[in-house]
Amino acid sequence: MTETIYARIAGTGSYLPPKVLTNDDLAKFVDTSDEWIATRTGIRERHVVEDETTSDLAFHAATRALEAAGVAAGELDLIVVGTTTPDLIFPSTACLLQARLGAEGCGAFDVNAACSGFLYALSVADKFIRAGAAKTVLVVGSETLTKMLDWGDRSTCVLFGDGAGAVVLKADRETGILSTHLHADGAKKELLWNPVGVSAGFKPDEPNAGVRVLMTGNEVFKHAVKALDSVVEETLEANGLDRHDIDWLIPHQANLRIIEATAKRLDMPMDRVIVTVDKHGNTSSGSVPLALDEAVRSGKVQRGQLLLLEAFGGGFTWGSALLRY
Ligand code: COA
Repeated sequence: MTETIYARIAGTGSYLPPKVLTNDDLAKFVDTSDEWIATRTGIRERHVVEDETTSDLAFHAATRALEAAGVAAGELDLIVVGTTTPDLIFPSTACLLQARLGAEGCGAFDVNAACSGFLYALSVADKFIRAGAAKTVLVVGSETLTKMLDWGDRSTCVLFGDGAGAVVLKADRETGILSTHLHADGAKKELLWNPVGVSAGFKPDEPNAGVRVLMTGNEVFKHAVKALDSVVEETLEANGLDRHDIDWLIPHQANLRIIEATAKRLDMPMDRVIVTVDKHGNTSSGSVPLALDEAVRSGKVQRGQLLLLEAFGGGFTWGSALLRY
């Protein structure tokens, strides 16, 4: 009988750019208010990059995760970065990160699944480890989403922030990631997208190139709640678990009301849900690993506990991961 190999989280790290933009700061240049934003989304402030790039944020988060794991960059077999805001069209952000870390020779690639990017990247990395194709993998979610916002569009610009989170996965015979579940529905692409492209959509030099993140917020909200309900159910069922078995819910941080809906589905009190959306806004792929790192470093999440991670984003994409930390 072949023995199962798990991908265990050996260390976590995160990084936020220093500049903070509060709701009141936003209200100085767009027609909104702290009251509107906080009531509808739970967001109070977000961090925004000035000169830093997505690979810079990734580098700082990755360095912290490697340190926490006690792993040297040279030991990595693979780097997977979830991002929708890469530094360049190519090379990938993962390649830029690999060079900066000095992780010579290992495989490195990006995964673009919008806000579900980290969970997609984590799932791919988990499969590499389970298949015996890698022993030590760095998984990063890093975004500078504020670089592609239309700062005149109050329906989108108030929602997002910048940041990165990372985990180092190591092959382990005892425990680790128990299952991951990924889904997509490309038919709904126009409900949340950035229609600037290379072979389709607006070209950078065309008149509408200023168009950035476009979203039908209330539709996205409904689809997100439904999709997350269903993936949470699927995850519990696949593992033969009851909803009360989960120690911590670590959700994508897009909107407090979406998070509360998932917590309710799990019959989980909010003090067992990690919430960072108030301080970070929606950092897309960065959000889940940022929340995880905060939970680990604050001592909330303890070794041996059962964690449920989930995310929903443009595409649509959505997914979950259940793991024994
Ligand atoms: N400040 C003040 N008013 C605003 C505003 C802002 N920042 N943004 C929109 N409004 C206005 C709208 O213009 C609209 O005014 P009108 O009724 O006069 O036309 C009104 O508020 C209601 O807009 P609506 O879009 O229906 O509000 P909502 O209750 O659905 O909340 C979101 C909007 C975006 C907060 C909410 O739909 C949401 O969070 N959706 C999910 C978005 C998301 O998480 N996306 C990322 C997924 S990864």
